[in-house]
Amino acid sequence: MNNEIAFNWDRFDWQAFQKAQSILFNLVEKQGHRDIRLNFSNLKLVFPNGFVPLIVLAERYRYSHGVDFALVLPDEEVCRRYILDSNYAACLCPDGGHPITDKPNALHRFSDDTSLNELIDSQIHQVLERATYAQGVLQSFEWMLNEVAGNVLVHAGVDHGWMQVVVHPKTQHMAVVVADGGVGIPQTIRAAFPMQEHDEDAIAHALKEGITSRPDFGQGKGLTGTLQIVKINQGGRLSIHSQKGRVEWMNDRMEIKGDFPPFPGTFVDIQLNTAVPIEIERALWGDAPAYPFNDALYGKDTTIGVMRMQLADEAARFGNRLTGLRIRNKIENLLATAPNDVLEIDFSGVELIASSFADEVFGKLALMLGFVGFGSRIRFVNVNKFCRGIIDDVVQSRIIQSHVKK
Ligand SMILES: Nc1ncnc2c1ncn2[C@@H]1O[C@H](COP(=O)(O)OP(=O)(O)OP(=O)(O)O)[C@@H](O)[C@H]1O
Ligand SMILES: [Mg+2]
Repeated sequence: MNNEIAFNWDRFDWQAFQKAQSILFNLVEKQGHRDIRLNFSNLKLVFPNGFVPLIVLAERYRYSHGVDFALVLPDEEVCRRYILDSNYAACLCPDGGHPITDKPNALHRFSDDTSLNELIDSQIHQVLERATYAQGVLQSFEWMLNEVAGNVLVHAGVDHGWMQVVVHPKTQHMAVVVADGGVGIPQTIRAAFPMQEHDEDAIAHALKEGITSRPDFGQGKGLTGTLQIVKINQGGRLSIHSQKGRVEWMNDRMEIKGDFPPFPGTFVDIQLNTAVPIEIERALWGDAPAYPFNDALYGKDTTIGVMRMQLADEAARFGNRLTGLRIRNKIENLLATAPNDVLEIDFSGVELIASSFADEVFGKLALMLGFVGFGSRIRFVNVNKFCRGIIDDVVQSRIIQSHVKK
């Protein structure tokens, strides 16, 4: 009996996933196979909107039909690495001996509010380091991630969900994928609004302002706010697949369509253009206060108007420009999200920094902010003599350099 799916496609996206889903339906539900080998040897390109739904489906078949999945990795090295490094292999075949990585841009599982909060914190660190963003993009990102992933815990009726966040600095966009193998949006919506017969109409209804299936609990703000944010972010996209429905906002228009085969749960795919500012207060109906981005991470135990970064928590060593670039991105983003605040950089536990690191962070920041801006927005705390000397030196050199240029 043939129990192998040989994928001849060179890319695996949502369309490919749906074809795979039909084949799996035949093998598992019609022919009764329980050992299935997914052969991806020809694959060259993988997309989260192909592999993440496949992982949700495989998990469903594992529990409902006792199916065992094995995986043949792509021959092509980059694609093979990506499947391993993104945790796709480990999540698709948990018994396959593939290691789980804690890389923030990999696929991660969350199962309760504590694990979700930790995961969101690590995603904030990731995005802060990876690039710089137009005004409001970071706040919007954090708001949406909390809302869409929080929905899984409240509505999906399963004990865990999946999340992946990938930033692409070169193409200036970021992708957020949240998935669950739960009851699906149409079912929860129909329980409260029985007239929404078609799955796609039920999803479109969930996206309207104030629509919630649990008025005791929520206000129906999460999905509609997410859609508003994506709409005012030129180039932003939102795509929701749940059961037999699909609703997408793309190229400035909304598409509401049936989807077959049905997706066994909810799959939300958000793409933001990181170079286009988002007026988050306008997106959230003007009644939301300025969203205090990363307050929990950098505003804890500080007085109002002061953010604090513990430098020792940001890296294991402070010796090279790549680490410096990561930390400067973060500082620039923090200063931009709270334009009136001071950032305190606490050097406790940091004995030594290299000049290249110091230049990448503080030299370039001084150049960017100017003498007065640098002095008034950044405050150094607990810096030893050595580090102070290095910072003084690189900042002075950069400022002299800018004078010479002028
Ligand atoms: N992952 C999911 N699984 C099942 N149903 C969902 C899921 N996400 C959203 N829904 C449905 O969509 C409705 C609208 O979601 P939305 O986030 O906009 O509002 P809410 O969660 O009810 O309230 P609030 O977001 O204000 O707390 C929910 O009430 C629920 O019926
Ligand atoms: Mg919600």
